[in-house]
Amino acid sequence: MKRRIGVIGLLLTVTLASPDPMAAQDGADSCIACHEMLSGRLGEPVQAFAEDVHMEAGFGCAACHGGDPTIQGPAAMDEAKGYIGRPSPGQVPDVCGRCHSNASFMRQYDPSLRVDQVAEYVTSVHGQRLLGAADTAVATCASCHQAHSIRPASDPRSSVHPLNVADTCESCHSDPARMEPYGIPTDQGAEYRRSIHWETMSEGGDTSAPTCNDCHGNHGAAPPGISWVGNVCGQCHVVMADYFGESRHAETFTMLGVPGCAACHQNHDVQPAHDEMLGVGEAAVCSQCHRESDAGGTAAEEMRTLIDGLRLALDTARTVLLDAEDSGMEVSEALVSLNDGQSALVKSRAAIHAFDVEAVREEVEPGSEISEEALARGHAALRDLQVRRMGLAVSVIIIGALIVGLVLKIREVERPA
Ligand code: HEC
Ligand code: HEC
Ligand code: HEC
Ligand code: HEC
Ligand code: HEC
Ligand code: HEC
Ligand code: HEC
Ligand code: HEC
Ligand code: HEC
Repeated sequence: MKRRIGVIGLLLTVTLASPDPMAAQDGADSCIACHEMLSGRLGEPVQAFAEDVHMEAGFGCAACHGGDPTIQGPAAMDEAKGYIGRPSPGQVPDVCGRCHSNASFMRQYDPSLRVDQVAEYVTSVHGQRLLGAADTAVATCASCHQAHSIRPASDPRSSVHPLNVADTCESCHSDPARMEPYGIPTDQGAEYRRSIHWETMSEGGDTSAPTCNDCHGNHGAAPPGISWVGNVCGQCHVVMADYFGESRHAETFTMLGVPGCAACHQNHDVQPAHDEMLGVGEAAVCSQCHRESDAGGTAAEEMRTLIDGLRLALDTARTVLLDAEDSGMEVSEALVSLNDGQSALVKSRAAIHAFDVEAVREEVEPGSEISEEALARGHAALRDLQVRRMGLAVSVIIIGALIVGLVLKIREVERPA
């Protein structure tokens, strides 16, 4: 019941109370002046706050804690002046939402900032457990954003910077003691750290790869539902998601409760794809459900044969052309044409997601034509080379014979008669 009132209270504060403009006044802030001299948990917030985005925007401690910073001495912390002390987890969304859900107030500072964080949060597993079941083990605003050193996500020091998000979520989700009551796995972080996504981000420095919040949402943190796991991955892998969405599998997987892309690629431990995943062999993902003898299995093998065929044809053409080039033949144009062949291979790997042999064949065929032409060009160049070598050999023999003849002639002339 108390939580209910909390939510209603939150709505009221958001609509009625506009933030106290006094709170935005810096200067002789008694809260900071006194807490600065205190140690431990009472003093630390002051040091941390020096780099906080709210401090930079001119807010003081009272912006969140209430009280009156113009009063010197402990009377500054007067409940009659709105002082709330240390906000309980259940109070935190109200504290932050007081400003962050107030569009007209926020617009004065940064018109581009969204004002739906609290609204989203109350729909998340975190928010529902906190406000609905008074469960304080879940994340509140102040767990993902550290209460006194809040920074925008673009700042590398921020707990919600893409490179730091996994740490932030793992602080709870990889902690077996905290997760024990819920019976959910604690391996998401460890698995994610092995993935191509984390490698791309941490080693490649490419923050367009996903971290936890890109798939789970920032404030609506929930596991993606079965039917839209494909959409989550498809935000970035558009081509695969389009093929998959139109495929036989899409509907069937939803019906069977199979998690779309994650059924073949995992959700957290996503690894680079390879051709062995296709077919009915040991490393093939298709053999989870298909056998060599059923229609899906036969199709899987056919697709694999098409792709293997194109890869092999491109490799052969390249080897022959490089041989010719090493021998000084001009084949650069044919070598360049192989790039188009390579992109046909990439497209055919994407087209397997239609789970239809014809879709793969459609992408493979132009690639095969390119590789055949290139191979023909390579062979022609090697034949030319052969002819030139033959010509060279013949002229060497003729010149040799001429030299021998000349030498004999000279000896004959020089021989004393
Ligand atoms: C004259 C010194 C002084 C001033 C001024 C002062 N505080 Fe405190 N504050 C303390 C001391 C001492 C404590 C610990 C004892 C207590 O809880 O009353 C404390 C405790 C707190 C706590 C932790 C309460 C808890 O439940 O753990 C918060 C939050 C806080 N102060 C915020 C403020 C704010 C906001 C202001 C300004 C409006 C302020 N303080 C002004 C000395 C001060
Ligand atoms: C943006 C909101 C915000 C501002 C501004 C803010 N605090 Fe806090 N503060 C919190 C929240 C939220 C908590 C509860 C911490 C938690 O749940 O992790 C807290 C906790 C505290 C505590 C209790 C710490 C503990 O470990 O028991 C103290 C003391 C405190 N704040 C003092 C300050 C002082 C001093 C300032 C100004 C320098 C300040 N706060 C500014 C939000 C804020
Ligand atoms: C007194 C009003 C107020 C309160 C209370 C408040 N904020 Fe803010 N917050 C702001 C304003 C204004 C900005 C924008 C500052 C700027 O861009 O200059 C901001 C900025 C932020 C940002 C950075 C946004 C970005 O990406 O640029 C985050 C994150 C944030 N606040 C989180 C919180 C959290 C979490 C709490 C509660 C613990 C909280 N705020 C409490 C007013 C407030
Ligand atoms: C489960 C972790 C988590 C919780 C809980 C959380 N946030 Fe966030 N928040 C994030 C992440 C991650 C981002 C960064 C998003 C990005 O990369 O742009 C963010 C971004 C923000 C921003 C910047 C603007 C935006 O929407 O992107 C604000 C403001 C903010 N949060 C406020 C809040 C408030 C207020 C609450 C509590 C109602 C809260 N957050 C709860 C993780 C969280
Ligand atoms: C302060 C600890 C804490 C932090 C930080 C935290 N979580 Fe949670 N989270 C929990 C708890 C506790 C649950 C409740 C588990 C349950 O109900 O199954 C939960 C639930 C979830 C769930 C729903 C799980 C399910 O199937 O029931 C998801 C998804 C989730 N969190 C993702 C995240 C992400 C992503 C982040 C970081 C952006 C994050 N969490 C940060 C504690 C935390
Ligand atoms: C590439 C997208 C993606 C990323 C990145 C990601 N997740 Fe997930 N996560 C999912 C999907 C999809 C599911 C649901 C799978 C299912 O239903 O079988 C899930 C499920 C979960 C669950 C529910 C329990 C479980 O294990 O099934 C939690 C908790 C969770 N993720 C936390 C995290 C955390 C923490 C991170 C970052 C370290 C993270 N996730 C990164 C896609 C992602
Ligand atoms: C039924 C299994 C299956 C499903 C479902 C599936 N994939 Fe794939 N995916 C594969 C196989 C097999 C390959 C490897 C193809 C190859 O290299 O020959 C692959 C390759 C990939 C690649 C790498 C392509 C490349 O250029 O090498 C990406 C990215 C990818 N999938 C994303 C997705 C996304 C996103 C979804 C969901 C929309 C999805 N996959 C659904 C089986 C699947
Ligand atoms: C925020 C964007 C984003 C999201 C969301 C995302 N990915 Fe990725 N993914 C990337 C990037 C970036 C790479 C690395 C570069 C590349 O290979 O395209 C990658 C790589 C991959 C690869 C390896 C591709 C290869 O070349 O072998 C697979 C497979 C993959 N992702 C599958 C998934 C699946 C499955 C999901 C959903 C559970 C997903 N991705 C969600 C951006 C994303
Ligand atoms: C999670 C189980 C599962 C996995 C993994 C899976 N399939 Fe399927 N597949 C099915 C089911 C179930 C059907 C029957 C769908 C229908 O008839 O509507 C099917 C049907 C098909 C069909 C249509 C067959 C027909 O009747 O004409 C093709 C083609 C196919 N799958 C190819 C593949 C390929 C290729 C792979 C591996 C990349 C794969 N499947 C992986 C479950 C799976």
